[in-house]
Amino acid sequence: MRSWSPNSWREKTILQQPTYMNQDFLKKVEAELSGFPPLIFAEEVKTLRSNFQKVTNGEAFLLQGGDCAESFSDFNADNIRDMFKIILQMAAVLTFGGGKPVVKVGRLAGQFAKPRSSDFETRNGISLPSYRGDIVNGIEFTETARVPNPERLKTAYFHSAATQNLVRAFARGGLADLHQVHRWNLDFAKDEESSIYMDIADRITRALKFMESCGINAETSPQIAQTTLFTSHEALLLNYEEALTRKNSLDDKWYGCSAHMLWIGERTRGLNEAHVEYLRGIENPIGIKISDKITDDELIKLIEKINPNNIAGKLNLIIRMGASKIDNHLPRLIKAVEKEGKKILWSCDPMHGNTIKSTNDLKTREFDSILNEVKSFFAIHEAEGTYAGGIHLEMTGRNVTECTGGVADCVNPANLPDRYETQCDPRLNVNQALDLAFLIADKLK
Ligand code: PEP
Ligand code: CO
Repeated sequence: MRSWSPNSWREKTILQQPTYMNQDFLKKVEAELSGFPPLIFAEEVKTLRSNFQKVTNGEAFLLQGGDCAESFSDFNADNIRDMFKIILQMAAVLTFGGGKPVVKVGRLAGQFAKPRSSDFETRNGISLPSYRGDIVNGIEFTETARVPNPERLKTAYFHSAATQNLVRAFARGGLADLHQVHRWNLDFAKDEESSIYMDIADRITRALKFMESCGINAETSPQIAQTTLFTSHEALLLNYEEALTRKNSLDDKWYGCSAHMLWIGERTRGLNEAHVEYLRGIENPIGIKISDKITDDELIKLIEKINPNNIAGKLNLIIRMGASKIDNHLPRLIKAVEKEGKKILWSCDPMHGNTIKSTNDLKTREFDSILNEVKSFFAIHEAEGTYAGGIHLEMTGRNVTECTGGVADCVNPANLPDRYETQCDPRLNVNQALDLAFLIADKLK
């Protein structure tokens, strides 16, 4: 294969990038970023890879979730804490109910760049550049806000660093202690979801007491009091990713140091394009979003490019076909992958293939479509004899009304505007996320 360097992507066709007016300023910012400390440490990436290997082998389950897009304005401790709590809560449900260790990866501390279906947005006859995420431009529909500003690359870096810092503190400093399992329940949880969760929390607490009387405690088993929440985002802005790429002196290999895991989207996974070129050279576990549009042949070529040595734990295919298409397309892809003996961590993003416009013109997703895609994902893997390894969600620890439906806390289309707060795509709220975790735990049993 051709030689690789952190900037070899620059020779390739690249999609979904902003047009910066001031190239000198951009270069100055890129140079500054390349001198900044990495946001993660290469050895942590190796830990995540070995966790992904366990998932690939069917010994663990991957829970990946967070905002569609983080924003500079929603940046505060409460939001980070609530996201941390809902991830821990879902992981507790999945571990206890499903009986498998859960690898936790947040879409956070860097999820700032968005691919868009159109370069321009038109409102009342006025066209402006589309919003591409807070790392690029502002969401307000004004000419000034929509101009891509290189300064935002640095702002995104500092927001990511502060988020990562608090997440590490929560993970190590007490909030993730299993003795706190009741405290992870969020105020917004409705009675039904709350009582199922509290019942699981009671049972975990009783199990801890039993273990303690057998001499197993936080001193003998630190994982009782601590956890790890890995970070991830879409590697969309390659100049940002390049600036944070570092060679690890311990193994002389390149690591993307903006997050532990990076993925590329459905729109930027072109085999001979820039995004695949960048991702093929770094050691991080890589995710690729896969829709029904991919051919078997294209998929195999993509797999061989990103993971030429076929190492388990390197590559995660994130299936996002939509509830109505998954039955027709996932089986053929699994068969093609199995025929070639490729080692894949299969996960399911039941969000992006199920986006619709509601009657009040808001982008939404129906809980039942999300649920149906997840159910199909598990059923197809069972039929093919492969392992349904994970779930990739857009969700929040807040009480938003962005997706319709749900079990106890059913959101009606008419109520969508009540708390529609997303920067980009509609997220599951606390109750919808818990409902989904209960269902998946049942499937994992
Ligand atoms: C996303 O994950 O927010 C996204 C844009 O996904 P996809 O590339 O699958 O559309
Ligand atoms: Co999204």
